[in-house]
Amino acid sequence: METTVLQIDALQPEADRIARAAEILRAGGLVAFPTETVYGLGALALNAEAVSKIFEAKGRPPNNPIIVHIDDPEKALNVVAAWSPAAQRLSEHFWPGPLTLVLPKHAAVPAIVTAGGPTVGVRMPAHPVALALIAAAGGPLAAPSANRSTELSPTRAEHVRKSMEGLIPIILDGGPAPGGIESTVLDLSTNPPRLLRPGLVSAEEIEAIVGPIQRMSQADPQCVLPSPGLLPRHYAPRTPLELSANGVARVRELLEGGKRVGWLTLNKSEASGGETIRMPATPREYAAALYAALHQLDERRLDRLVVDLPPQDAAWLAIYDRLRRAAT
Ligand code: TXA
Ligand code: MG
Repeated sequence: METTVLQIDALQPEADRIARAAEILRAGGLVAFPTETVYGLGALALNAEAVSKIFEAKGRPPNNPIIVHIDDPEKALNVVAAWSPAAQRLSEHFWPGPLTLVLPKHAAVPAIVTAGGPTVGVRMPAHPVALALIAAAGGPLAAPSANRSTELSPTRAEHVRKSMEGLIPIILDGGPAPGGIESTVLDLSTNPPRLLRPGLVSAEEIEAIVGPIQRMSQADPQCVLPSPGLLPRHYAPRTPLELSANGVARVRELLEGGKRVGWLTLNKSEASGGETIRMPATPREYAAALYAALHQLDERRLDRLVVDLPPQDAAWLAIYDRLRRAAT
C-alpha cells in the first residue's frame, strides 16, 4: 500500500483535504491525523471491520482497548451507556483536551474497540484537524497512537511515516503535536475513580473537580497498572534506554567503555562527548519535546541512551511514567 502524506493547516484545516481523508474513513479505511497530544491512527469506531485494520496495521495485541474520539461532548452519549455527574463536570472542565474518561460502553460500540471489555475510553481532542476529521467522517473515531505497537509514540507526521509507511493509506501532516505525550486516562467506572495513565491533565487538576481519586504511586517504580494496554514496556525506542540519577558520570563511564551514547539531559553546564540533547526544565515544555528527542537519538543507532532522572514531583509524573516504560 502506498502511503500519502498530505499537508494540512493545523489551525484552519483545508476542507478539501479533510474531505479526502474522511472519504477513506467512510470507506472503512485508516487515516493518521494530529491531535493535541500525539498523532492518532483513526478508523470509524462503530465499524468493527475498520477497527480491525488498526490492530493489523499496528501489530497491536487484541487485549488492548482503543480510545474513541468525539467532536462534541454530547456525542459521548452515543458511545457510553451511562454518563455520570463526575463525567459531566470533568468533560465541562477538560474537553476538548487531553483527558480520556473510561465509562460503561454503549451497545453500539463493537467489542473489538474495547478489547471485549464492558467499558470504553472516550475523549474530545483539542485539535482543529482532529475535530474537523471526526465531523466529516460522520461518526466517532477509534484512534490509538499512530505507531507500531510498543514503539515510540509519534508527535510529528515524519514519525508516523517512519513507523507505518506502506501500512496505511494516508497521513495528515498538521505539524508537531503540541502536547507531546498521550492523554490522561481516568477510569470513572470505579469508585473512587482510578488514574490508569498519567498525562497532560494532572491528578491534582482532576481532584480539584471531582474530589479524591485513586492515584498511581510515583514512588513505586514497579507499580503495575490495571489497564490491559498499559504494558510495562511501552513507548520504547529501539536503542536500550536507561534512567540515571547521575547522567554525567554514567555517560562518561559508557563512553570510556567504548559505547556510542546518546544523552537526554536536564543538566545545563556539563558537556559529555556523547550525542547530547538538552531538555527544557519545565514539565510542559519537556513533554512537548520528549518523543521528538527520543526519535532523533533512536535514528542515530547508538548503543545506549541515558536519560537524566526527572524531578520527583507531581508535575513530572506523566513524564516519569513514559521514561520508566521506555527504560529497559
Ligand atoms: O493522547 C492519546 O490518548 C492518544 C491520542 C491519539 O488520542 N491516543 C493513545 O492511544 O495514546 P493508545 O491506544 O496508544 O493508548 C490508549 C490507552 C491504552 O493503554 C489502553 O489500554 C487505554 O488507553 N484504554 C483505552 N480504552 C480503555 C478502557 N476501556 N479501559 C481501560 N483502559 C483503556
Ligand atoms: Mg500508544
